[in-house]
Amino acid sequence: MEQTEMQKPQNLEDLIQILHQIFANDKIDVDEVQTLLESYQSDPREWLKYAKFDQYRYTRNLVDEGNGKFNLMILCWGEGHGSSVHDHAGSHCFLKMLQGQLKETLFNWPEAEKKELTKKNEAILQEYQCTYISDSIGLHRVENVSHTEVAVSLHLYSPPFDSCSCFDQRTGHKKKVRVTFSSKYGEKVPLAKAVSQENN
Ligand SMILES: [Fe+2]
Repeated sequence: MEQTEMQKPQNLEDLIQILHQIFANDKIDVDEVQTLLESYQSDPREWLKYAKFDQYRYTRNLVDEGNGKFNLMILCWGEGHGSSVHDHAGSHCFLKMLQGQLKETLFNWPEAEKKELTKKNEAILQEYQCTYISDSIGLHRVENVSHTEVAVSLHLYSPPFDSCSCFDQRTGHKKKVRVTFSSKYGEKVPLAKAVSQENN
């Protein structure tokens, strides 16, 4: 197998270019992508134009469509904003912190009907850290538990998906939801299109 030397991205544009090279291959090395994302030293000036906050809920902002191989997006979390418990539609999911901290709670898939989901792990994701999840690992909820600080995270999903499943923590009940973007390439998506339910 061809082994290329790990490149350290100089900026966000550079990172995107390296990701395009990596994802041109059909086989993805999770550790390689995780290490690459972790090595990106985030400079807010590079991503500020994508960081569009909402007063009431976290936002998803599309940065790059990865030649159809992945979606790269920036999520902006106001104080106390959080996701539902959700799966990842069979895709790889990388989450890299750009600013602040997020709490990730991992759950097992529902074992039986009408039973509370069981927690698997809980972690605070620190600035610059990159974590990975897929359906084979389980489900998760992501939250900005801070009352004073916002958080910004960079997410890569491969292959891209436009719907996933959300779960009621108490009953394990599953519901399919569409995921949408608040902005694309730094431009706000008209509100009617951006209306979405809980997502990833
Ligand atoms: Fe997620």
